[in-house]
Formats: sequence, structure tokens, C-alpha cells
Amino acid sequence: MSLSLTQDDNTALFRKAWTLYDAISEKNYMFHREIYGHVTRVLQERHAQGPYHLLDLGCGNARFLAPCLQTAPPASYDGVDLSASALDEAHTYLNGISNTALHHKDMLKAVEDTDSAFDVIFTGFAVHHLDAAGKQRLFSACAERLAPGGQFIMVDVVREDGQTREQYLDGYLNFMRMQWTEVLPEHLEEACNHVAAYDFPETLADLTQMAKQAALSEPQLISRYEQHYILRFTA
Ligand SMILES: C[S@@+](CC[C@H](N)C(=O)[O-])C[C@H]1O[C@@H](n2cnc3c(N)ncnc32)[C@H](O)[C@@H]1O
Repeated sequence: MSLSLTQDDNTALFRKAWTLYDAISEKNYMFHREIYGHVTRVLQERHAQGPYHLLDLGCGNARFLAPCLQTAPPASYDGVDLSASALDEAHTYLNGISNTALHHKDMLKAVEDTDSAFDVIFTGFAVHHLDAAGKQRLFSACAERLAPGGQFIMVDVVREDGQTREQYLDGYLNFMRMQWTEVLPEHLEEACNHVAAYDFPETLADLTQMAKQAALSEPQLISRYEQHYILRFTA
């Protein structure tokens, strides 16, 4: 598959939202530096065991994963995202990495439709956009596409056990307003509105159940920074 720009999401509004996320991650407000440090080590360990094929769901511009790949080059890298603007940038960030392909596609459809097998499926801060049924479908499709012993590495926000979505949002929006001090007030409000509308994180217990249903292992907690988790599920 190759990058197709036929879906036109290049609206001014989307570009603004993407630029805002990029600025927020650049300030490390979601712990990208620490988290992708762990991801680097996980990929280096996998790389030491032999060639591996990597699928990145909701890759965005791959700005944080690309440096990990420099130190643990995969045999192939497939990135999937709905945003044409982010994928355009990903071409630049992935420069120098061999055998890369970028797919302008819904991640659930991409993983359900492909016949390829992957040794590592990675996803960073994208799964919380799916509803519970979509997440379950994603887990099941990933389990089917993973080679034996393959790993599904999921970086995402997670609710505490027993916490409702409303309680989670109260806490997260408060965290944003207190900690994201260098974001302009109007941009902070925009980011808060985006989180309140589109973030549907699950609890660790829910994710464990979804993994079980998909015949994946229980989650291994690689690390967490506040609500931002790095989890590994094995096929
Ligand atoms: C918060 S960004 C994360 C980017 C990058 N993975 C990271 O860790 O910084 C989430 C990305 O997921 C993409 N995304 C959200 N839902 C998607 C879906 N259903 N299919 C494909 N991409 C999706 C968005 O376009 C966005 O680029």
C-alpha cells in the first residue's frame, strides 16, 4: 500500500489541531520523552533478537518514534493515520529509515484488511479515540496479525479502576490547566475541548479483559507517567 491523499482532511481546522498537539508533545506535557525512551529500549531488545516488521497505528508524524527506529531499525515500517497533514510530515521524520510505507487509512480498517504479519504492532496515544467495541475489534485484529511471540505495544491514557469517564476527565482537564503552563489560554481551551469530546480511555481491568478476549497476554506495565501508560501485550 502507498500513501493516498484522496481523503481530504486538510482543512484549516484539522491543521490547527495537529499543530497544537505537536506543540504540546514538543513541550513534553504528555511525557513523550520518557515514554519514547522506554519504547526505544523495547525495540532495541526486539532488534537484538533478529529482523522485525513493525506496524504503527495512529502514527501521526512519527516524530517521536522515528529516532527510536534509528537505533533499532526494523526490516519494514508501516505507519497508518487518518491525517494527511501528519503523514506528509512523517515522510520527513522517517527519512533515512529503509522500507517505510505510510497509509492514509483508518487504523482499525488497516489492521483488519491487511494480510501481512507483524512482529511488533505499536500505537501511541491513538486507541483512546475508539469506543469500547472498536478497541475490542482492534485488539482482536492485532492478535491475528501478530507473528507468534509478537508484541502489541500500546502507549495511551488509562482510567484508574473504578473511575468513571467524567471523573477521569475532571482530573485530566485539571492536570492540563495546572501543568500545561506555556500553552496560550485560547489554545489550552481548544485542547481541553478536544480531550473532553474525543478521549475515551479504558481502565487497566477493561484492557486486560479485551486482551483476554483477543487471546493476547495480560498487559505488562512497562512504565507509567501519571495517566500515560506504556503497556505490552504478547501474542
Ligand atoms: C495524539 S496523536 C499521536 C501521534 C503519535 N502516535 C504520538 O505518539 O505522538 C493521535 C493520532 O492518531 C490518529 N488517529 C486517531 N484515530 C485514528 C483512526 N481511527 N485511524 C487512524 N488514525 C487515527 C490521529 O490522526 C493522530 O495523528
